[in-house]
Amino acid sequence: MVAAKDKPKPNLYLVGFMGVGKSALGRRVAKELGFRFIDSDHVIEKQAGKKIPAIFEASGEAAFRQLERDFIESGHPEKGCVVSCGGGLVVQPGMSELLKSKGVVICLFASVERIIERTGRNKNRPLLNVENPEAKVRELLVEREPIYMKAGICISSEGRSMAEVVRHMIRSYHAAAVEF
Ligand code: S3P
Repeated sequence: MVAAKDKPKPNLYLVGFMGVGKSALGRRVAKELGFRFIDSDHVIEKQAGKKIPAIFEASGEAAFRQLERDFIESGHPEKGCVVSCGGGLVVQPGMSELLKSKGVVICLFASVERIIERTGRNKNRPLLNVENPEAKVRELLVEREPIYMKAGICISSEGRSMAEVVRHMIRSYHAAAVEF
């Protein structure tokens, strides 16, 4: 029999809107759990040999969404990873159920003000490369919020230190991982 401590650990998938801190928090959680950290956007960029805005420009959003689906279906290790998912990944039909079948899913939340501040720092997000990115953030949030709310264990990073949020994420992961 395999001892519980030696059993392969289910992946932890981090979902949530752009700028909620999936990557920064995910790296910390991965380090503490002794897991590998993977970012869906980075894997897709590497495979495509292009940055995300260039993928959107050359092939369109639908093609990018297909790359996200391929990544989840067969493009990453099945165990022992913290996987930071691009903000729109879980919004696609059927993806939430797929992620939940593969591992523990945590959805991170932050205030709209924090999101606007964080996403305003770089131009690497084609959906926000518009005349009024703030209005676009608000519009997408309204559209996606119901999906995020049901996507996994909901954790807010608002008004809490990074260490506190990381502890909460790790506790939630361990509690949910026993189901696998
Ligand atoms: C997107 C989020 C981005 C990236 C792409 C589309 C989205 O990832 O996948 O620009 O639709 O919300 P981050 O959430 O890591 O910024």
